[in-house]
Amino acid sequence: MTHGAAAAVSHPNIAFIKYWGNRQDALRLPANGSISMTLRGLLTRTSVRFDPQLRADQLTVNGLPASEQARLRVSAHLDYIRGLNRSSEHAVVESQNDFPSAVGLASSASAFASLTLAACAAAALELDPRDLSRIARRGSGSACRSVFGGFVEAYTGEADLDGYAQPIAAPDHWDLVDWIVITNQAPKPVGSSEGHRLAATSPLQTARVADAPRRLDLCRQAILQRDFAALASVVELDSNLMHAVMLTSQPALLYWQPETVELMRSVSHWRDQGLSICYTVDAGPNVHCLCLGEQAEQIRLQLESLLPEARLIRSGVGGPAHLVTA
Ligand code: PMV
Repeated sequence: MTHGAAAAVSHPNIAFIKYWGNRQDALRLPANGSISMTLRGLLTRTSVRFDPQLRADQLTVNGLPASEQARLRVSAHLDYIRGLNRSSEHAVVESQNDFPSAVGLASSASAFASLTLAACAAAALELDPRDLSRIARRGSGSACRSVFGGFVEAYTGEADLDGYAQPIAAPDHWDLVDWIVITNQAPKPVGSSEGHRLAATSPLQTARVADAPRRLDLCRQAILQRDFAALASVVELDSNLMHAVMLTSQPALLYWQPETVELMRSVSHWRDQGLSICYTVDAGPNVHCLCLGEQAEQIRLQLESLLPEARLIRSGVGGPAHLVTA
């Protein structure tokens, strides 16, 4: 292999229909399909440089050496890519997020989407977006969606080759805003890789997974028809179902904090009063408040008066992952 280098950027995404639990942990083949919106404004930039002098892969995140656990996870991902072009060169990987990591902002999604694009380009592999999405999934299940912009659906797949995502609608299809309300910046106690393994211990997971095709249909239709009321109803149901599984796993996972519940109640109340808003919560305490772009500033004022200490991040519908000049 030539000593290639490349860099890529990608956005995190927020799942409207969430992936929780794997059918196959090693390949991260998801128990259920999922739908997300790629998040504009938040960005991960990852560069990869293969170097025949290196004896091991190196990883820095936000300028600091990463934990050994993170380095090994990236190294395993690179092993797969090295296998595709029969190389054994190690790499220097540098990843930068412009948003807080590990607080339910899906930093692993943008991390593995940008890593996959950069590493495959540095390895001179010519792959189409579907293949890149499939490879990204092996690093983090939600990363397959961050390869694409706009509104994106990930399939369960029968096997490795068909476990990928595809766009449902382009970023300019619907002007939605995600107000991410950060009330707690502490790293989450149980990461999603461990959480996925616990999902099957909940007696509710079977029912959640069995009903997923119905929720995916409702969500896809709501997006295609730009029907906010229909979207709100299925997005909140899906978030609550995932947290019901988390709460009933053994051991139980409770990601919510008092502010999480306060926001969930307030968002429902504001919707009853006529605002187009709904909540969704990932594997962390922070709440994503989805709303129509035209009401976003009015909703900002409501959020600021409810939780004056919280940090608000405004995001819209973002574009696809892409290569940048290294
Ligand atoms: O890709 P992972 O392993 O970080 O899992 C993502 C899990 C959720 O964010 C909770 C849901 C989702 O579909 O993004």
